[in-house]
Amino acid sequence: MNIKKQIILDCDPGQDDAVAMALAMAATDEIEILGITAVAGNVPLNLTQRNARLMCDICQRTDMIVYAGAEKPMAHSLVTAEHVHGKSGLDGIDIVEPITPLQEKHGVDYIIETCLSAADNSITLVPTGPLTNIGLAIHQESNILPKIKEIVLMGGTLREGGNITPSAEFNIYVDPEAAQIVLRCGRPIVMMSLDVTHQVLTTRKRVDAIRNLDSTVGEPIASLIEFYERYDEEKYHLDGAPLHDPCTIAYLIKPDLFSLKEVNVEVETGGKFTRGATVVDYWDVTGRLPNVQWAHTVDANGFFELLNNYLSKI
Ligand code: BDR
Ligand code: CA
Repeated sequence: MNIKKQIILDCDPGQDDAVAMALAMAATDEIEILGITAVAGNVPLNLTQRNARLMCDICQRTDMIVYAGAEKPMAHSLVTAEHVHGKSGLDGIDIVEPITPLQEKHGVDYIIETCLSAADNSITLVPTGPLTNIGLAIHQESNILPKIKEIVLMGGTLREGGNITPSAEFNIYVDPEAAQIVLRCGRPIVMMSLDVTHQVLTTRKRVDAIRNLDSTVGEPIASLIEFYERYDEEKYHLDGAPLHDPCTIAYLIKPDLFSLKEVNVEVETGGKFTRGATVVDYWDVTGRLPNVQWAHTVDANGFFELLNNYLSKI
């Protein structure tokens, strides 16, 4: 029997977070979304929580429970990415006030309470934004740790270099202190870094295929991607944009799309030039114990085939 993964999706939508949400909501046989927590990141929290709820509306899942979590990183002020995602965070579609309600409880309290009341080794955390909510939850209540089966996150970089500074990827850069707590928590972690997400590009042909899906989400998702890809195309001369965040959900559905290597990863929390860098001991030169399964390749055609198959279910 296929046991569904019970996940908490922790996100900062963001067009690519939005695609990850849609994929997770479509994968009803494999994934049970317990709740969605929004964090400040791509845009401020009042917009990420609104955008998360709007995606639930678009996916016809107004039953989803959505919480607002931290509005700023643990130790520093917030850095946002409107230059990539637009002022709303979801530029590319019409923004309306969502029907899906915002729950009253703080997102971090929701994560703590949900984990504490769960069986050991049962909850999969899926962060696709800065790690503030998860870092705070672990910091405030370490008894949640045995409940966490796995953390599958989007963040970090080794071979691709940084996308917000020369050495740092955005999600880790925004809250390195939280990232350090997560990486040192002792639970199994899978990292989808820029090394792998830069292989999953939204080419013209792929976006057209999404738009033409027999699905109510085909058109809005294609429009979101079209807005979002203009930045990466201009900046990095990529053929489309990397669909960073959906790699986490694709991994939960079909892990063998990815190849992984067990490595030690530390985060630079100081550093004049390197704050937020992920220090990946790829060749085990330090002898530090591995704490991460680092994804380094993906079957990109297989990824888009999976994405389209699942989006067609909505
Ligand atoms: C990450 O940063 C955000 O802009 C994206 O949503 C993704 O989570 C990529 O560096
Ligand atoms: Ca994100």
